[in-house]
Amino acid sequence: MRAYGLFYGALFGSLAIETAGQFNNPPSVLIWCGKAYNANNASFNPGGWLSPPEKSDVPLLDLRVYPRFQVYTASEDSATLVVDVEVSYRTGMPLCDYGGNNSVFYDTRSPGPPQLHLTVSDAADSSVLISNAAVPLGSIGEELSISLGDLPAQSLPRDLEVTASLDGCTKTFKISTQILRVPDRTDGGTVTKLDRKNGGLLVQDYKTAGSPLQPLLPYSYYVDWGGWLMNSTSQMNVFKSYGFNIIHIVPPGGPEPFNWTQFDAFMDRADELQLWVMYDMRNTYLNLSSLEEQVNHLKSRKSLLTWYTADEPDGNSDPLNGTTLAYQKLRELDPYRPVSLVLNCYNFHFPEYTAGADIIMEDVYPIATNLTFSDQWNTTCNTTYGDCGCDDCFAPPGSIEDVRKRYEAFDDYESWLGWKEGPPKPIWGVPQAFGGSEYWKRPPTATEEAAMAMLRINNGAKGIVAWNWPTTMELANVTGMLARSLTQPAVTETLLGSQPIKLETNLADSKIDARLWRAKGKMLLSIVAVTTAGSDGEVVVQLPKKIDKVDSVVWGAGDSWNVHGKELRKSVLSGYEVDVFFVS
Ligand SMILES: *[C@@H]1O[C@H](CO)[C@@H](O)[C@H](O)[C@H]1NC(C)=O
Ligand SMILES: *[C@@H]1O[C@H](CO)[C@@H](O)[C@H](O)[C@H]1NC(C)=O
Ligand SMILES: *[C@@H]1O[C@H](CO)[C@@H](O)[C@H](O)[C@H]1NC(C)=O
Ligand SMILES: *[C@@H]1O[C@H](CO)[C@@H](O)[C@H](O)[C@H]1NC(C)=O
Ligand SMILES: *[C@@H]1O[C@H](CO)[C@@H](O)[C@H](O)[C@H]1NC(C)=O
Ligand SMILES: *[C@@H]1O[C@H](CO)[C@@H](O)[C@H](O)[C@H]1NC(C)=O
Ligand SMILES: *[C@@H]1O[C@H](CO)[C@@H](O)[C@H](O)[C@H]1NC(C)=O
Ligand SMILES: *[C@@H]1O[C@H](CO)[C@@H](O)[C@H](O)[C@H]1NC(C)=O
Ligand SMILES: *[C@@H]1O[C@H](CO)[C@@H](O)[C@H](O)[C@H]1NC(C)=O
Ligand SMILES: *[C@@H]1O[C@H](CO)[C@@H](O)[C@H](O)[C@H]1NC(C)=O
Repeated sequence: MRAYGLFYGALFGSLAIETAGQFNNPPSVLIWCGKAYNANNASFNPGGWLSPPEKSDVPLLDLRVYPRFQVYTASEDSATLVVDVEVSYRTGMPLCDYGGNNSVFYDTRSPGPPQLHLTVSDAADSSVLISNAAVPLGSIGEELSISLGDLPAQSLPRDLEVTASLDGCTKTFKISTQILRVPDRTDGGTVTKLDRKNGGLLVQDYKTAGSPLQPLLPYSYYVDWGGWLMNSTSQMNVFKSYGFNIIHIVPPGGPEPFNWTQFDAFMDRADELQLWVMYDMRNTYLNLSSLEEQVNHLKSRKSLLTWYTADEPDGNSDPLNGTTLAYQKLRELDPYRPVSLVLNCYNFHFPEYTAGADIIMEDVYPIATNLTFSDQWNTTCNTTYGDCGCDDCFAPPGSIEDVRKRYEAFDDYESWLGWKEGPPKPIWGVPQAFGGSEYWKRPPTATEEAAMAMLRINNGAKGIVAWNWPTTMELANVTGMLARSLTQPAVTETLLGSQPIKLETNLADSKIDARLWRAKGKMLLSIVAVTTAGSDGEVVVQLPKKIDKVDSVVWGAGDSWNVHGKELRKSVLSGYEVDVFFVS
């Protein structure tokens, strides 16, 4: 999140000149998320709003083909391509119309859906990697294996051509995709693999030679550098002992990133502790020479996990090409790690800013702020005006529904962008763990904090990095316990081994959020009450199959749920209750 006070006014002024013409604001009007927020300025259309593509009259083939992992190395000799092949009315290429009757895209009397036949070849030399593989229409996450033996290891991605045809249809569909196979590292640095199918990260325990890649579910904070960490690396032991597995340092500000003497001591300790580092270049990412110096200084480090460029570029009106220019440079300098950034706005130039990231973060801060009237600026807040500290958040007090809505919105935007953008990028959450200043009258309670974090995981978040550390004792305690619970190997493997499935309940979505993960023979459930009211009566959650019992409880009161075949029942759900448990 932004550093208030310092940035309002000071930085805004200079950026307004630098990026003039990119946004709809008149020259003297300061904006956040494109909106005027000063009471002296009038509302105008902020622009930059992503709308769904026009609905097509005919069904479309929505085909995505992409390598499972973002990066493969020379020592790997095979890879898998993931195929998603759906029928859509929003994105894709017109589907074969089967005799002009668009309401039937295939003969429902046939035993199964038609098969799509796929051939994948290397665009450079036309060599065939997959020949005529069959995937049924309607499949998501189908995997096809390819040999990497003939693909040279290089720092640039290689273009692949996908040609497909559908049973009973004479049409040929063509799309392209890219695969990245890079030389093995020789500089001592590590590789962070991004699983683009399920969205999680995989890393190697570099302290144990030859250990396999393991899923990592980051649970952490943005950590204050100057005021907390800078003088003593022993603070890192404290931080790690809570149960946090990565650390995100907030740079001190200004054009100089860090004092390298101090930062190298920090990195030495991070390497020793195997405390993974998310390296933040928020103040410097637009200066590509500075970015290059920083990346070259750090890329051979073992504990470096991901790069982080822009912090709320959409709020700050950073240049629209900034994140992409930084991303291209990062890909050249270090193709081995993913790039992340955080967006603050609900819907402001989403495609432009996210084009420069592999991981998209959101920071919805809904606790103890007035969402309809800005006490900071004395204006109302709506979709074209004002800043209330939580952009386009409209839930009534006592609800964290805006967190779920943000995930639904980002999922929509990613699906509207279609195959050219590759698979949907994973989203990480930045729960509010501060308050008592600016828009927010108080910090969240432990109960609110756990609900905000788990609601994010339920909605597909693949990492949690709260703003900010140091926090209150109460929040340090609850987040440490939640981090320890979620990073248990069996829990992480399940959460990152599949995408969550939304479960039907007897209550409205505005009251409850229930999800199921099925992976590695395990079933994990997470049920979150979305309001302070909880349920005012019995809760019934529908499961896709009959179960026998609640197994181990990961969080909350899992054993208070009663199993009735394909239903789980509980007499009442308390406000912001969170229950996470395995069932079998
Ligand atoms: C916007 O508000 C600022 C601050 O009060 C003021 O200086 C500026 O003239 C206003 N601009 C317009 C176009 O209203
Ligand atoms: C198209 O198929 C639908 C569903 O089978 C059928 O109800 C409709 O009459 C068909 N229309 C034409 C023009 O054949
Ligand atoms: C770190 O050291 C500087 C210089 O000695 C001092 O001003 C600052 O207060 C110290 N910070 C912390 C958190 O101890
Ligand atoms: C950087 O930190 C070291 C160690 O604390 C200190 O000795 C040095 O003066 C600092 N350098 C600058 C330019 O502040
Ligand atoms: C950009 O970074 C370089 C390298 O650190 C530095 O020399 C230069 O002053 C920076 N430019 C600006 C405008 O901050
Ligand atoms: C990026 O956008 C800025 C602001 O519009 C523009 O001045 C600059 O030339 C662009 N840079 C590149 C490399 O396109
Ligand atoms: C928000 O502020 C307005 C204006 O002061 C007030 O009428 C309203 O009750 C406040 N809402 C909340 C939820 O505090
Ligand atoms: C908002 O209005 C209140 C009460 O009139 C005043 O005290 C405060 O300074 C105003 N804030 C701003 C940012 O104008
Ligand atoms: C938002 O509020 C401003 C100020 O009251 C108003 O001028 C504008 O029309 C409102 N926008 C919408 C979309 O309601
Ligand atoms: C942390 O919270 C738990 C559960 O509320 C409580 O039992 C424990 O005493 C707390 N620990 C600290 C250090 O506050």
